Order: sequence, then structure tokens, then C-alpha cells
Amino acid sequence: MGNPVLTAISERRSIRSYKADKVTKEQFDILLKAAGEAPSARNSQPWHFSVVQKSAILAEINAEAGKNLNREGDIFHGAPAAIFLSCDAASRWARLDCGIATQTIALAAHSIGLGTVILGLPDAAFTGERGDYFNKLLKFPVGHSFAVAIAVGVPAGTKEAHPVEADRITFIE
Ligand SMILES: Cc1cc2nc3c(=O)[nH]c(=O)nc-3n(C[C@H](O)[C@H](O)[C@H](O)COP(=O)(O)O)c2cc1C
Repeated sequence: MGNPVLTAISERRSIRSYKADKVTKEQFDILLKAAGEAPSARNSQPWHFSVVQKSAILAEINAEAGKNLNREGDIFHGAPAAIFLSCDAASRWARLDCGIATQTIALAAHSIGLGTVILGLPDAAFTGERGDYFNKLLKFPVGHSFAVAIAVGVPAGTKEAHPVEADRITFIE
């Protein structure tokens, strides 16, 4: 019998093509419960999750990030929703904790038939000159800044697994 955790880890892909279907409240509840169950340093749970389903807000963030990065295209890859994680970046492990929570969301989403792609590019909207406006738009708690985002939706396509680099491992004997 297969191991469902290892199978989900192996099958997850960064999905860059989505159907128009909305992510349901029940699906968000599953993803956010899983995220909250992620480990964090000293159990500080330093994250805040801002869930965005309004396409106009995603478009506004995309436009600002695109302008600041001088690049075109949709950084959300047409996903109907994205979860933005913010934290107090001065806290030593907060960003790592947010990364762990993000991968937890990715695996939980895959397990219920949703696709995700973790996104660093939105950072350009939050670190630009209109950063405060976007912090407030997404209701980041005071003192928090953007950590990472994850687009979520029903996959319209997939991709090959990335090659695993064997030389990234050393057993110290
Ligand atoms: C911290 C982080 C930031 C990322 N930012 C982006 C991004 O802004 N846009 C994007 O399309 N993919 C982004 N990715 C996805 C990576 O490109 C992807 O994980 C990598 O190519 C491996 O592919 P896989 O996830 O399908 O295994 C990001 C991944 C991580 C972990």
C-alpha cells in the first residue's frame, strides 16, 4: 500500500495554469487548518494569512509588482485565489516558519485535488514605494511585512517533476 504523505510530496507540482472554478469555503478551511498546524520556532506561529479571492485585488498587486520588476505577465498564473503570508521579519525564524506553513498548504491542497504555486514575486508590490498601501489593503497586522504567497485553484495543467540533485547530499561519516 502506498504512503499517502510521500505520494503527495512526490506528486506536488508548481501549477501555472488554472481553471476558473472558485476555491470553496470548505477547501479554504482545510488549507488554513493545515497551515495553522505547521510547526514554528518556539510555537510562535508568527504568520498571518491574508486570503484574496477578489480578482481586482490580485490584478492590482500584479500590476504593481510588474511595474516595479519591469516585467509583463500574470505573477498569479490565472489562479482564482492566493494566500499571502506576512510576519514580523525581525523575528529570527519567522520567515522560515512561513515557508514551512506554505509548503504545508501546498501539500494539503494537492491532497484535495487543488493546485498551488508558491510565489515570491508579489514581494515587489510590498517593497515598492506603495508598499504601505498594499500592506493595508491585505490587512497585514501592524509590524508585519510580506513573507511569501501561494496561489491556489483547480489545476488546468501540470508539469514534469523537477530533477532531484543527488550531489546536494553528503553523509558525514
Ligand atoms: C520561495 C519560493 C518562491 C517562488 N516564487 C515563484 C514565483 O514568484 N513565481 C513562480 O512561478 N514560481 C515560484 N516558485 C516556484 C518554483 O519556481 C518551483 O518550486 C521550482 O521551479 C520547482 O518546481 P516544482 O515546485 O514544480 O517542483 C517559488 C518557489 C519558492 C519555494
